[in-house]
Amino acid sequence: MTTSTPETVRPGITAGRGAEHTAILGIGGYRPSRVVTNAEICEYIDSSDEWIRTRSGIIERRWALPHETVQMMSVAAARKALMRAGIEAAQVDCVIVATVSHLMQTPAVAPLISDELGATPAAAFDISAACAGFCFGVSMASDMIRCGSAKHVLVIGVERLSDITDVTDRGTAFIFADGAGAAVVGPSPTEGIGPVVWGADGSRYDLIRQKQPWKDVLESAEPSMPHLRMDGNPVFRWASFEMAKVAAEALDKAGVSPDDLDVFLPHQANMRIIDAMARTLRLPERVVIARDIAYQGNTSAASIPLATEALLEAGQAKSGDLALFVAFGAGLAYAAQVVRLP
Ligand code: COA
Repeated sequence: MTTSTPETVRPGITAGRGAEHTAILGIGGYRPSRVVTNAEICEYIDSSDEWIRTRSGIIERRWALPHETVQMMSVAAARKALMRAGIEAAQVDCVIVATVSHLMQTPAVAPLISDELGATPAAAFDISAACAGFCFGVSMASDMIRCGSAKHVLVIGVERLSDITDVTDRGTAFIFADGAGAAVVGPSPTEGIGPVVWGADGSRYDLIRQKQPWKDVLESAEPSMPHLRMDGNPVFRWASFEMAKVAAEALDKAGVSPDDLDVFLPHQANMRIIDAMARTLRLPERVVIARDIAYQGNTSAASIPLATEALLEAGQAKSGDLALFVAFGAGLAYAAQVVRLP
């Protein structure tokens, strides 16, 4: 015969609880001062202004000057985002920096940025999701706020890709550029950030990559910067076909139809990819499409917040508009979500 022992009462763990709804409360950007024309790019590679314009849509791009560091550009973008959100740096509980071009293995650049802003002791860390990094960050920030682990999160996408671009490489020299964009994510009375659709396809890992691991660089007889390499055409085809499906799924999950949408804000990788996605999504004519790439180039993690700021500043988009973000890049990592613009 078995005897039952009375169950010992053990203290439980109180679950975190946060806001029911979240939103982007403010957006800010920083564009480096040096304008690099296609003519200048063609001094380094065998190409032409016409080829670059028709194949990528890029007319010019911005490359950072030495003082326009990852930290400096991030702080400038973040100050604008905080000011527009009406949030003090001291109210920020977490700083997420999405970047692949902070050339210091450890520590992350986020604590430095946080401290310069006056947000210490906010949690601060970097994420490496390449061009999808900003959308990954917005999703993580929103989830943190819903769970109660943070009230206000600063998400920064920042790149100095000119440091890791080989200006003599025809496949990448004309595409990559520098800049920073920041968003303050916080609680909201109504829903401002839809469910993320995200993923990564490691079977395509080699399509965009650092040329060599650091260890191989250090062991080589003539060490040199392991620049970015990209097999552009397979990435182009993958992005043009697969990313529209991811974007459509994000619309569906948010319960938003293309007819409800005001603004399409895709990662600024190539104007032809932007056009292909817009066609596949059957966006109505009146939907504003971000085309920041023409004068900014591809700034990876910074491209969506920079394009968002540009549309808001130009009055082409307004506060309260429903926008669709979709981002993709090295990994290959991707993410899409519907947001309400601040
Ligand atoms: N200038 C002139 N000609 C060039 C060139 C350049 N910079 N680079 C390549 N070419 C030539 C090629 O040699 C090829 O010539 P061929 O037809 O005689 O063989 C031709 O142009 C077409 O090359 P291809 O690579 O097929 O061009 P593309 O239409 O795919 O455009 C990219 C190239 C890089 C603009 C495009 O592939 C792209 O944007 N890819 C995706 C970028 C992206 O989204 N990255 C992910 C996020 S960071």
